[in-house]
Amino acid sequence: MRIGILGAGGMADALGTQWARAGHEVLISGRDLGRSTGQAGKMNARAGRAGVRAGSWAEAAAYGDVVMAAVRAEGLAGVLRACGAELRGKPVIDVTNAAPDEYDPTRPFAGLIGELTGAHVVKAFNLCHVDVWRMTPPVFDGRPLAVPLCGDDAAALEAVRTLVTDLGCTPVDGGGLGRAMLLEATASFMIGLWFGGADAQAVLPPLASSGEHRPG
Ligand SMILES: NC(=O)c1ccc[n+]([C@@H]2O[C@H](COP(=O)([O-])OP(=O)(O)OC[C@H]3O[C@@H](n4cnc5c(N)ncnc54)[C@H](OP(=O)(O)O)[C@@H]3O)[C@@H](O)[C@H]2O)c1
Repeated sequence: MRIGILGAGGMADALGTQWARAGHEVLISGRDLGRSTGQAGKMNARAGRAGVRAGSWAEAAAYGDVVMAAVRAEGLAGVLRACGAELRGKPVIDVTNAAPDEYDPTRPFAGLIGELTGAHVVKAFNLCHVDVWRMTPPVFDGRPLAVPLCGDDAAALEAVRTLVTDLGCTPVDGGGLGRAMLLEATASFMIGLWFGGADAQAVLPPLASSGEHRPG
């Protein structure tokens, strides 16, 4: 798969390196091509193959069969505008979280990306710290990490499920894109707990103790 990444920071580095290692072709992008090119070189060294290169925002948008938006929230709208019409109709993975204490439930990032670009947005990968996405694979207490996906487009969801599986993780259906704001709120809440020193994983019971639930 060709993966364009809007971003050349921590999330681009962690996930892009994993996907290059899995055999995908990756193009990262940032504000400074020289810096992004240096970053691509580091990713290739860790991936063990020359699967990563760097370009402009618009080049990353045009390049990807799937595009991941991995920029800081304050730069998101400007970066999307720089992509022009390239993202229309494409699967776009949205990993965006608000800065601590700045989450606004009335303005979900996933919805903003859809409105500005016409892309098929899938919210994913926003619940875990970047260091988790560097793990090969992310497994805790013998269980592969489960990654919830929220999106409306079947083909886009299928592509992202493949990329989740390539990390050694398990994709979980999180519902339609309208529920992406719940993932964003969950991240904001959990990050608050972590910053306060709490073990956020301990706040939820295992499935066997979550009550009796039947589909439908
Ligand atoms: N770090 C985590 O643990 C984590 C986990 C889950 C989700 N996320 C989310 O993932 C996204 C990326 O996080 P990250 O950790 O990769 O951040 P990062 O390392 O700071 O990298 C951010 C990227 O955004 C670009 N950027 C920053 N400010 C910008 C601006 N004002 N205009 C345009 N571009 C700007 C940077 O461009 P340059 O390359 O030019 O500097 C860089 O490529 C964020 O929305 C974050 O909330 C992060």
